[in-house]
Amino acid sequence: MDQRFAFLFLFCSIVGHVASFRSGTCGGEMFVEKSAVIDAPTDADCTWKIETEPDRILALSAVNIGSFEQVQEYFTIHDGLGLASPIIYANEGETVVYTTQSSAEIRFKKMPTTQLQLKIQKAVNCPADLGLETNCTRLVDDVSCHCASYTKRNQTDQKAFCEDNGMLLVSIETPEEDKAISDTWGLGSDFWTSCIKTFGRWVWEATNTNLYPGYVNWYPIAEPFCNDQYDKNYTCMLIGYNGLHWGSYHCDGVWGAVCELHP
Ligand SMILES: *[C@@H]1O[C@H](CO)[C@@H](O)[C@H](O)[C@H]1NC(C)=O
Ligand SMILES: *[C@@H]1O[C@H](CO)[C@@H](O)[C@H](O)[C@H]1NC(C)=O
Ligand SMILES: *[C@@H]1O[C@H](CO)[C@@H](O)[C@H](O)[C@H]1NC(C)=O
Repeated sequence: MDQRFAFLFLFCSIVGHVASFRSGTCGGEMFVEKSAVIDAPTDADCTWKIETEPDRILALSAVNIGSFEQVQEYFTIHDGLGLASPIIYANEGETVVYTTQSSAEIRFKKMPTTQLQLKIQKAVNCPADLGLETNCTRLVDDVSCHCASYTKRNQTDQKAFCEDNGMLLVSIETPEEDKAISDTWGLGSDFWTSCIKTFGRWVWEATNTNLYPGYVNWYPIAEPFCNDQYDKNYTCMLIGYNGLHWGSYHCDGVWGAVCELHP
């Protein structure tokens, strides 16, 4: 939304996938399906009560303005609803803050300009780890979570491990996601993915989507055939093979895994 457009809405306006939207209102209640943007008010103090799905959290970031610290005097973000909900403070350099639960209250003081907008996104919780020999981080965006597990298990067991932790064995849809995994955890490690060859086709099992015609990164050949003596039971896909590539292997081989969760 450019500023000219933002100016048309004198108080607070919202764009994005929101269920309840009334332009020209100052504050109110809002359910965030995916993401929403709120304009800071210039004429009055406003309080927004924001909720998302019960098993998700909220990620809040300032749009059009350098950092949270610069503008934090104009609003407080509260973890949860109601008077007792604690203020969430941004650490130095932090551009996104998270609630610990599915609701937030934003209390705006009226601002001298309309430039400030707050972006609110539904996010998944991302713990620091899933226990021993694991490491989790927000790898591809502010709302998703990826976890590497270094404990070696076969592909079926890794799938179960991810699911036991409320996640899915990874599906790598983009070169950016592939690169982020390699850059973060790639060196010297191999990880199972959810990609398997079934009825002659490679499928991301976790999302039930065909690998082709999507992004691929096989090595050393364009696609493992899985039909000669040597590789006919190589029907599961590993990443980290030969540095930064994908390879096929028999599914009972034991390797690490990458789990993921998207909102
Ligand atoms: C996860 O790995 C990163 C990068 O190697 C490291 O900085 C971080 O401390 C690790 N976190 C945990 C919980 O081990
Ligand atoms: C696949 O082939 C390898 C090598 O011949 C063998 O050790 C392994 O047991 C086979 N795995 C399955 C699931 O058939
Ligand atoms: C995976 O390993 C488990 C034991 O941890 C075993 O029961 C299962 O049969 C194995 N599955 C495959 C497909 O190799």
